[in-house]
Amino acid sequence: MLTARAHAKVNLHLGVDDVREDGYHELVSVFQSLSIMDTLSMRLLDGEESAMTVEGQYAEGVPVDCSNLAWRAVDAVAAHMGISCPAFELNLIKGIPAAGGMAGGSADAAAALLLANRALTDAGLGFALSEKTLFSLAADLGSDVPFTLLGGTALGLGRGEVLSPMLSRGQFRWAIITNASGLSTPAVFRKIDALRAAGRGVDPHMDASAVAAALIAGDVYALAAALHNDLQPAALSLRPDLRKILDTGEAAGALRGIVSGSGPTCAFLCEDDDVAGEVIAQVTADNRGTRGLLAQGPAPGASLF
Ligand code: C5P
Repeated sequence: MLTARAHAKVNLHLGVDDVREDGYHELVSVFQSLSIMDTLSMRLLDGEESAMTVEGQYAEGVPVDCSNLAWRAVDAVAAHMGISCPAFELNLIKGIPAAGGMAGGSADAAAALLLANRALTDAGLGFALSEKTLFSLAADLGSDVPFTLLGGTALGLGRGEVLSPMLSRGQFRWAIITNASGLSTPAVFRKIDALRAAGRGVDPHMDASAVAAALIAGDVYALAAALHNDLQPAALSLRPDLRKILDTGEAAGALRGIVSGSGPTCAFLCEDDDVAGEVIAQVTADNRGTRGLLAQGPAPGASLF
């Protein structure tokens, strides 16, 4: 059995331009990976059907068939190596909230790309794919998959898949608040289009220089002031309950709270772990169905154990 881990992400800046002809939105995103992670194990099976199991804190609702992005990632690697339908088993331990705007499914796909590349070559079934090919397969699987493969801190352009690593000094402390029910990413992107069409949407914020400067300085206060998410008004419009979560977290001492990516997870940047713990205690006490996680970033990209 081979094992890999992959981390969640938060968008420190997310600028969203108008919808493109292919249905995606041009982004300026500053991604940072967080210590929260999923663990995925894989082994090849002899002539049997493929299978998948999922366990852990956030296992509920995660598909265990070929609709799972990790399963599709294994199939993509095999197809690229010219291997037809190898049977495999995947075991996922879910530490990243599902459908939460933290790239949990993307992280699993990134881990699966590494596992499949190693398992199929170790078995002598194919030649190892280059890093470039893995990143290209990652982009085909989803816009956030390349970043979860890379990890650290990076600027994401295009639909988020064109990456440049960024300098980030020190470690930042976060209180992460998850919700009982998720939000659909396409629905949040459709909402921003609708808000803009109605003249109520935010203009695209395509300049991430304030976040970049705060990261280079390692200045948590400057970073708190610079955090920005163009998708936040759309997420709040679909889920007005998130407003109270953001207000409670900031009143409890967080420097700043933002919706993470397309939400509904809210991320609170804090001075230290004590404040982050207090934020989690107060927000979860005041908002039914929420759960809290301490996190720090940046964390590494997907890797094999
Ligand atoms: O790339 P991914 O499959 O993760 O994207 C899911 C959906 O999110 C897309 O189908 C699209 O509706 C929306 N999206 C977008 N613009 C992006 C990334 C995602 O509109 N840059």
